[in-house]
Amino acid sequence: MATSSTTTQPRDTWGSKLGFVMAAAGSAVGLGNIWKFPYTAGESGGGAFVLIYLLFVIFIGFSVMLTEFAVGRKTGVSAVGAFKKTDRRWSFVGVIGVFSGLLIMGFYPVVGGWAIAYIYKLATGLLSAPEAIGDSFGSFISNPIEPLMWMGLYLLLNIAIVARGISGGIEKAGKVLMPMLFIILIIVSIKGMMLPGASAGLEFLFKPDFSQVDSGVVLAALGQAFFSLSLGMGCMITYGSYLKKKENLVQTTAMVTAMDTSVAILAGLAMFPAMFAFGMAPAAGPGLVFVVVPQLFAEMGAIGLMFALMFFVGLSVAALTSSVSLLEVVVSYLIDEKGLKRSTAVALAATVMGVLCVFSSISLGGLGPQLFGTGAFDVFDLLTDKIFLAVGGMLVCIFAGWRLNREELEKEITNDGDIKFPLFGLWYNLVKYVIPFAVAIVAIAGVYSGFESGKGEIMLVGLGVIAVSGIISKKL
Ligand code: TRP
Repeated sequence: MATSSTTTQPRDTWGSKLGFVMAAAGSAVGLGNIWKFPYTAGESGGGAFVLIYLLFVIFIGFSVMLTEFAVGRKTGVSAVGAFKKTDRRWSFVGVIGVFSGLLIMGFYPVVGGWAIAYIYKLATGLLSAPEAIGDSFGSFISNPIEPLMWMGLYLLLNIAIVARGISGGIEKAGKVLMPMLFIILIIVSIKGMMLPGASAGLEFLFKPDFSQVDSGVVLAALGQAFFSLSLGMGCMITYGSYLKKKENLVQTTAMVTAMDTSVAILAGLAMFPAMFAFGMAPAAGPGLVFVVVPQLFAEMGAIGLMFALMFFVGLSVAALTSSVSLLEVVVSYLIDEKGLKRSTAVALAATVMGVLCVFSSISLGGLGPQLFGTGAFDVFDLLTDKIFLAVGGMLVCIFAGWRLNREELEKEITNDGDIKFPLFGLWYNLVKYVIPFAVAIVAIAGVYSGFESGKGEIMLVGLGVIAVSGIISKKL
């Protein structure tokens, strides 16, 4: 840390400031950017989805993140406590957040496990049969046993980290490996763009074709923005509660949003040109990164193997720095509100998550229970970003806009007037009026259009669960 006791004037330490930005960025940058963004963009028609996503990030994501940081820092406690402290009747929003965290962790470690498995698979000769890479992914994830072992390993890593508290090894690993991932993504993009036929991929990614857009696509873009920025479940409220009073919330929000969004766009650049060059369908689904990246490096011999390994090591670490933030939200709730010891809380939360993950993983091989014909993996994925996070983000905005006081928020965000934030009025009106209304419209239209594909019923169940948990938590 750059703290110096000899300077007369108290000043911000670079170390701590960067530490916070990196921690928040570590939570934001994860599978959401590198795995989910490209395949969702691919399934949602490309350019128009990307454009809508970017608009949501700028106008909604930025404002909601600033709101979460401000609420967290103002109250100085993690999510449930932050609401409770202000108004008991609002604590259900925090409880919904904890529930969303559990559900996201009901599938995230499955994919995190795939990322670790690919390190092993690459090291043991995956690239030697390039033509089999696609098929091997399909048979790997639909195998009922093998992915479970990797998921278990991934979850154990999370447990080991969160049981000891987040700082320490993972932070150091993140500081080295995240920049590495960034560089690798650039290398992958350049390599992909040099392939013949790659320009069609750029066109797909950046040329909006609005004939592809329906309300389902708009909701997917909104959900992606919340998921990728770690919003809508109190994660950033918890992080904000550790922030020092003198730090600049607006600038921090801008940096985290910019980093997260650039990694997502870079992941798109790394995937689509190569896919089009390989003649793969953009709607290839959740296997996208796991097939495109190995394939891209397969012909390059030892160097290719090294790049591919670096990519999956980076992806695994990015996933870990995100999932520990999810686990931590659930664990800190159990410690603060239910009085459990940290070790008990971690064990309990991880057990529930592990069970959910087993259902998710086996659902990809067609096993296990289904809801309206959809397996557990898809149900959790669908419910979390499109319903829970969207509704959670909306409620956080309603809370800040209608329950907190404008002057106090202005003081919090401008550090009692020390920081200029000329757009405060715009932010405030977005949070108070525009975002709640916009999210409600997008969610309603999205659920409605979901009935065509059999997803509407599931989303309605999700809304019902939110309503019930709201009612129950008020009674607790
Ligand atoms: N943003 C992370 C990713 O993109 C996932 C994540 C971590 C998250 N914490 C969250 C998503 C809180 C929603 C809410 O992989």
